[in-house]
Amino acid sequence: MPRFPEYRPRRLRRTAALRRMVRETRLSAADLILPLFVVPGEGVRRPVGAMPGVYQTSVDELLRDAAEAHELGIPAVLLFGIPASKDEVGSEGYAEDGVVQRAVRALKRELPELVVVTDVCLCEYTSHGHCGVIAGGGVDNDATLELLARQALSHARAGADIVAPSDMMDGRVAAIRRALDDEGFSEVAILSYAAKYASAFYGPFREAAESAPKFGDRRAYQMDPGNVEEALREVRLDVEEGADILMVKPALPYLDVLRRVKDSTGYPVFAYHVSGEYSAILAAAERGWLDADAAMLESLLAIKRAGADMIITYWAREFARRHGRSFD
Ligand code: PBG
Repeated sequence: MPRFPEYRPRRLRRTAALRRMVRETRLSAADLILPLFVVPGEGVRRPVGAMPGVYQTSVDELLRDAAEAHELGIPAVLLFGIPASKDEVGSEGYAEDGVVQRAVRALKRELPELVVVTDVCLCEYTSHGHCGVIAGGGVDNDATLELLARQALSHARAGADIVAPSDMMDGRVAAIRRALDDEGFSEVAILSYAAKYASAFYGPFREAAESAPKFGDRRAYQMDPGNVEEALREVRLDVEEGADILMVKPALPYLDVLRRVKDSTGYPVFAYHVSGEYSAILAAAERGWLDADAAMLESLLAIKRAGADMIITYWAREFARRHGRSFD
């Protein structure tokens, strides 16, 4: 490689057109997945205080948001349900007429081309807010597997294209794959939250999904932020159990994990730009300390550069509204 002064990297940074020509990573609406929160009722649109621009909506209102996302070129939505009532085992999570199941049916009827991904977990549906059933003061892994499989199956019956288990129980991907295949849903894909960390950045989401644990925390099932080799073992297990797509979550604090998961598997890898990452930028922007759009763009671009094939982000619609389908 030639050295300075023969080689001058600044030559290609001179104008926007030149920079554009040598940019290695580009971002478009087609790279993004929009999370949506569905609640019972009709005509409901409740803003989530800690997440500007994010709402809890009933199915009819959710259809409007999804239609706008679809028109803007966003290929998929990720659904979270907040049920009318919660219990010890999260039974609303697998109810055939549950909120998510109804939302999926409505979406597939009205917007058949939009890819519908459903979050599979117990925490939104349990009275205690944990991601599995409680036994002996902790979350019982094996007893939770059957409930997760039932929930995933009910989403598949409603028409979900992809089910996304986010609970971090061991063996859930295999349990869900088997349940889907046994009932004839071999074409429904599994997006596994394979490396999901016990993160402080989920704070605002727990308001949106009303899913904060009533006691303790999630450290006995979500991953320790200091670990990356363990993430690769988690990922390997999920691949062996039949995951089609892998997820790393949160995104920005775990770009090293993202890169290693991508390089070591060659699988599609999605990253979840989580609620706290989103809200932190917007809160700083409200104070005039950051430019929200620029900070979001840089974050999303960095996540993609680190190896994400798709990014789940609450900024998806806003990105597309501001920059169109093929911003680069
Ligand atoms: C449910 C779940 C959580 C998120 C996605 N699925 C919360 C948690 O694990 O506490 C977080 C998403 C976000 O913060 O945007 N298990």
